[in-house]
Amino acid sequence: MGGKMRRIGVLTSGGDAPGMNAAVRAVVRTAVGQGIECIGIRRGWSGLITSDFVQLDGSSVSRIINRGGTILYTARSIEFMEEEGRAKALATCKLLGLDGIVAIGGDGTFRGALAISRQAAKDGMDLKVVGIPATIDNDIGCSHYTIGFDSACNTCIECIDKLRDTMQSHERCSVVEVMGRHAGYLALYVGIAVGATAVLIPERPVDFERDVIENIRRARLAGTTHYMIVVAEGAGKAFYIGQQINEAIGIDPRVTVLGHIQRGGSPTARDRETASRMGYAAVQTLVGDKGNRIISLVDGQIRDLDMEEALAMTKQFQMDRYDILEALTNNGTSHLR
Ligand code: F6P
Repeated sequence: MGGKMRRIGVLTSGGDAPGMNAAVRAVVRTAVGQGIECIGIRRGWSGLITSDFVQLDGSSVSRIINRGGTILYTARSIEFMEEEGRAKALATCKLLGLDGIVAIGGDGTFRGALAISRQAAKDGMDLKVVGIPATIDNDIGCSHYTIGFDSACNTCIECIDKLRDTMQSHERCSVVEVMGRHAGYLALYVGIAVGATAVLIPERPVDFERDVIENIRRARLAGTTHYMIVVAEGAGKAFYIGQQINEAIGIDPRVTVLGHIQRGGSPTARDRETASRMGYAAVQTLVGDKGNRIISLVDGQIRDLDMEEALAMTKQFQMDRYDILEALTNNGTSHLR
């Protein structure tokens, strides 16, 4: 039933993301349903080096669709970046008789996937590797969406809504730092959703006077006495921004770094559903005897793209979202500058 696939490995690697468990579940159940054995590789690529695995069947992934984190654990492996480390990983693949691997994670995970695919081919091994994008950063060029982003957005919104309550009562300014690595997707989506006074993202060079101070002034002129500044971690340090605001206009902001709380929690409907579709597609890709692919969401459709081409793609940042933020914030006065 599973074509040439008899046994596959599944792993999660890099920063965890809500929905990874839902993806593992989808991979395992789809594989088992087609007569393919499924081995969970623990602790990402490093688990393949150290032969750290667990056998999975349909029932071992019961009741995980709603759980954040990853039951397979995750890691970032330095050793796997070296040819020697990958040779050990390939030895494990041979030992376990793996015909394919599904790697769930972000950019680093996929670079590892490409490297092991190439090394396997060089060694004459028929090992098919398929990637599933899962990161709260949504920064994978080939896919419009990555598993975990929606859940992280909702966690940020919940936290910021709470912060707003107290900022409003005390008529204060809040500076909130959100994750995103080098990307501003999380910050911008969240900024729009909470009606932030200002949002700083790495994709748009920051002019402190224009982007922060003038926005606070406009909010004040529009009658507001509390302010919410959202900073993407890639655009600056919230503590420093807070200090600068204090020095420029004398108000005393409270600074919150949301940190790893953003990566936890039960996945949203969007993440569970996307993870289920992507996990299913990953196994179907392997069954179709295709390797070196990344499962992507393109215009709402699930596709499998050539890994090398997919990794060379860059995502066009939708700057019109920034225009929308500006148009709607501070009673619509921010775009008048
Ligand atoms: O890639 C996910 C992410 O949470 C980024 O947003 C952040 O920059 C990084 O991982 C944090 O990594 P760590 O868990 O190693 O602190």
